[in-house]
Amino acid sequence: MISKDLNLAVSILNKDGIIGLPTETVYGLAGNIFSESAIKEIFEVKQRPLYNPLIVHVKNIDEINKIAVDIPPVAFELASKFWPGPLTLLLKKNTLVPDIVTSSKSTVAVRIPKHPMALDLLNKLDFPLAAPSANPFGMISPTKAAHVENYFNEKLILDGGTCETGIESTIVGFIGNDVIIYRLGGITIDEIESVSGEVKLFNKSEEMPEAPGMLSKHYAPQTQLYLTNDLENHKLMFSTKRIGLILYNKSVENLPNKWIEFVLSPKSDLAEAAAQLYSTLHQLDKMNLDCIIAEQFPDVGLGCVINDKLSRASKNNKL
Ligand code: TXA
Ligand code: MG
Repeated sequence: MISKDLNLAVSILNKDGIIGLPTETVYGLAGNIFSESAIKEIFEVKQRPLYNPLIVHVKNIDEINKIAVDIPPVAFELASKFWPGPLTLLLKKNTLVPDIVTSSKSTVAVRIPKHPMALDLLNKLDFPLAAPSANPFGMISPTKAAHVENYFNEKLILDGGTCETGIESTIVGFIGNDVIIYRLGGITIDEIESVSGEVKLFNKSEEMPEAPGMLSKHYAPQTQLYLTNDLENHKLMFSTKRIGLILYNKSVENLPNKWIEFVLSPKSDLAEAAAQLYSTLHQLDKMNLDCIIAEQFPDVGLGCVINDKLSRASKNNKL
């Protein structure tokens, strides 16, 4: 059920239930981090493997000290620059954080969301909220309440409108003196580096804890998706098919008959394109198309993030 009733959400959460939560990145499926039954339900309804830990959402920076220890100074610098906002920090957890939330890792992922409704809700609760994106494991993340309802219609979903950032938070961790980006997201690498100095990108060949979101096929529509930088060739190959085409800023000339195109930002704004990405994928996935083709975005700033999400969604789909 979609609703704006914050008090109802509070009472469900206080009784170990879970709800759909708007954030500025994507909608989450939220529950009390200290309620074992709520956390188990999140894993169950998402069909998420228990080895894939959850992000903890807190209302202010003081709350961090209640769940994390040995926080490096650079983490505070990043937090003070980007919180509330689409940045998640991996910090050494204290013993109060239940192992089920962190999949028994020694770190806890934490962020302060920027969405006013999420902050209002957190301020009415006396516990943090664990919230993964509100999609079944591996499917497209939701950026509108209706997307969540499609997946989990029996849950209360707080309606906070369309997510402003529209892609997940950037996940940053700390090993020794290294600042490591584990997942690209709403804060760009350049923005992080402007505070922390040079970062390393998580590389699965290195000996490091895994962020499963970095590895497997993710954010995928049911319709086959291909990412290309050779659109002309695809136009020839698929000229008679029903194709959904995702473009950055320009329409395509001589669009084949059965093709439909979505230009994510006619004014060439990568933030706008990022905000449109998942809702466009949701829309295309309902159109019974033969396949979806996405044009490679410029490899800068949020363009890198969009390409990363699209390449995960198209993983293993080769022509
Ligand atoms: O923008 C977001 O971050 C959204 C909103 C709802 O806050 N949440 C989100 O959660 O994207 P989720 O569960 O879909 O993605 C969390 C990612 C997963 O890839 C998980 O493996 C990683 O964070 N993660 C969580 N805790 C971790 C930890 N302690 N160490 C390494 N990776 C962790
Ligand atoms: Mg997710």
